[in-house]
Amino acid sequence: MGDRLAGKVAIVTGAGSGIGRTAAIRFATEGAKVGCADRDRDGLDSTVEEIRELGGLAIGCEVDVTDEELVEQMVAETGSEFGTVTVLYSNAGIAGSGNAKDLTLAEWEKVIAVNLTSVWLCSRACLPGMIEAGGGSIINQASVGGMVGVPGIASYAAAKAGVIGLTKQMAVEYGPSKIRVNAICPGTVPTPLVEKTYMARGGFAATAEEGTDPTYEELLEQSLFRYPIGRVGMTEDIAAFALYLASDESAWTTGVVVPIDGGMTAA
Ligand SMILES: NC(=O)c1ccc[n+]([C@@H]2O[C@H](COP(=O)([O-])OP(=O)(O)OC[C@H]3O[C@@H](n4cnc5c(N)ncnc54)[C@H](O)[C@@H]3O)[C@@H](O)[C@H]2O)c1
Repeated sequence: MGDRLAGKVAIVTGAGSGIGRTAAIRFATEGAKVGCADRDRDGLDSTVEEIRELGGLAIGCEVDVTDEELVEQMVAETGSEFGTVTVLYSNAGIAGSGNAKDLTLAEWEKVIAVNLTSVWLCSRACLPGMIEAGGGSIINQASVGGMVGVPGIASYAAAKAGVIGLTKQMAVEYGPSKIRVNAICPGTVPTPLVEKTYMARGGFAATAEEGTDPTYEELLEQSLFRYPIGRVGMTEDIAAFALYLASDESAWTTGVVVPIDGGMTAA
């Protein structure tokens, strides 16, 4: 156990799987008391159980982050269990395949709701407590797909670019209240979300040759040319940077949008 987040109360959304799960465990093993939020009860239970086995403190909040009442409840529940939430990692998200020509309005709206509107709802629910507490750290999960054009993910790109805009706006608005707001833009990190995106034709990979039927592993292998570091990411790569942003080590860092992507966006 470390102490980089000692005394802090954090919420991590999407904590039942992938990057959110790793980050929730990392935050807790660095001393934070963590409200783990997800709509997937089994994933949540497994994350909370692991944190407790490691000697950390966590509760599970089953919540759909697009539901404003449930989001308010999530913040209230975590607050009454552990104290005011001063770290929010808005990480929950879904894949969003499809190009601008073919998407339906319903598909577009769902991806915007889960990947963008939820980020605002979670911030809105946490901001009063953070202002009252004299500060906080909001970490928003964007994506390299919101920074550079990637074929086949129109709604996802729009949502993640929206997260970047909201991050900068809130950083400026709430800087005087000592609330820092930063965005992380991961490159490819194999998780259930990425498998879904890669296996949908024209997704992130968009590298499959016509007439071939590559497996997920083959698509990942084919995407490596995008990454100067020579490998795809691990959930730990992203969680490590989220930990830095959650901690007081990043006290003078706000409004930044940081690709954690093995060099993809530099290439
Ligand atoms: N993995 C990558 O390569 C990658 C790259 C860039 C950005 N991201 C972003 O990172 C975040 C985490 O993705 P991941 O790859 O770990 O995916 P994941 O599928 O492993 O985890 C996402 C979690 O979010 C939860 N979730 C989805 N919709 C929800 C909702 N409405 N309410 C509550 N919980 C909900 C899911 O149940 C799941 O547990 C997402 O915002 C994603 O867009 C991931």
